[in-house]
Amino acid sequence: MSNTVIVGAQWGDEGKGKIIDFLAKKVDAVVRFQGGSNAGHTVVVNNEKFIFHLIPSGILHPGKKCIIGNGVVVDPKVLIAEIEDLKSRGIKVDDLYLSSQAHIVMPYHMEIERLEEEQRGEGKIGTTKRGIGPAYTDKIARRGIRVADLLERETLTQKLKINLEFLKNFYGLNLPLKNALEEYLQYGRKLKRYITDTSMLVYELMREGKNVLFEGAQGTLLDVDHGTYPYVTSSNPTAGGVCTGVGIGPTRIDKVLGVAKAYVTRVGEGPFPTEIKGEIGEILKNRGKEYGSTTGRPRRCGWFDGVVLRYAVRINGLDELILTKLDVLDTLDKIKICVAYKYKHQVIREFPSQPRIWQECEPIYEEMEGWKEDTSKVTRSKDLPWKAKKYLKKIEDEGGVPIHLLSVGPQRGDLLVLD
Ligand code: IMP
Repeated sequence: MSNTVIVGAQWGDEGKGKIIDFLAKKVDAVVRFQGGSNAGHTVVVNNEKFIFHLIPSGILHPGKKCIIGNGVVVDPKVLIAEIEDLKSRGIKVDDLYLSSQAHIVMPYHMEIERLEEEQRGEGKIGTTKRGIGPAYTDKIARRGIRVADLLERETLTQKLKINLEFLKNFYGLNLPLKNALEEYLQYGRKLKRYITDTSMLVYELMREGKNVLFEGAQGTLLDVDHGTYPYVTSSNPTAGGVCTGVGIGPTRIDKVLGVAKAYVTRVGEGPFPTEIKGEIGEILKNRGKEYGSTTGRPRRCGWFDGVVLRYAVRINGLDELILTKLDVLDTLDKIKICVAYKYKHQVIREFPSQPRIWQECEPIYEEMEGWKEDTSKVTRSKDLPWKAKKYLKKIEDEGGVPIHLLSVGPQRGDLLVLD
């Protein structure tokens, strides 16, 4: 294996956790490069479920370096709880590394997010309420608190003062300095052993010829630049985010893999052309257990969208696709796949850059026969029902990329390498 990026090709929740866990066997390090505890990457091992919010999904493999890059926004309370939880379940957390330059999510970020969502009213984003947007806002506004600041009383005092003053003037929030200062210095002490220059660490690993896997959170359509703005997260979950979110050059990346579900889901608000309202949407939600692993919210379900896939291939430069949850479609008589959009009297095959157009697009579907067989026990690609193979071929043709891996169930072993 080489230096590989894994990104979500849809609106997140594509099942990346399980794929990272599988690929982690073959690499030396797994690196998160963006997002924060809004992510919930699920790995199921012998019916035991692990949900990772901040720690890279490779942590279940002993000896693999798990790195949280500078592009991640870190809620130290969540990170410490995650470390403690893993330890209590017998998992070693010795090889964890946290960038000294990553920004900190503070409790007031959640409060600001609550106020902002309230103010948006009908136009709310439907965020995960983890303080992600306001933490990235502070980073860009150059008043953010970084991981290294938790180790220096003087710097933290000064930065907290600036931020608390700002909160008072702009939001009318009166927060005491003293409690926050002691609490966050204590988090610094707890995390100290993990804090390092992760850009240098990754650079050195690569120089030694080690293999590194970059773990994207969320998905292409949630990218703050390339997603369905403003219904997006506040980071760059697309492949380009790796360079800035880790501190490596683009020439160091060998391969980009996209993970897509065999249908599409979305949590939160925002346009979703292939959304299915009604009985089939309910079937997908129930069979696919489509409830957010971070918030528990039900996910909206829809047919596979070829326009979105082509877009993800283009924006990320995808080399290959990994398709998950094919088994969820096993019981359907007919399966639709969106091949283009209709906008007024035009047929659009490429994802429009204007939200106004995108919001008014109607999907153009091709209907395929369902295979009506249990694929969850299939272990070799040649044993897949031929109608399922036809469906996979159609997806490959729409995206212009081959499907490399296929997931047919939640367990570690429910994966097929496609020929
Ligand atoms: P935020 O990232 O909490 O600010 O939420 C912004 C949007 O991104 C909302 O629509 C969320 O539902 C969505 N979102 C954030 N993280 C995830 C994720 O890990 N999976 C799916 N959707 C997400």
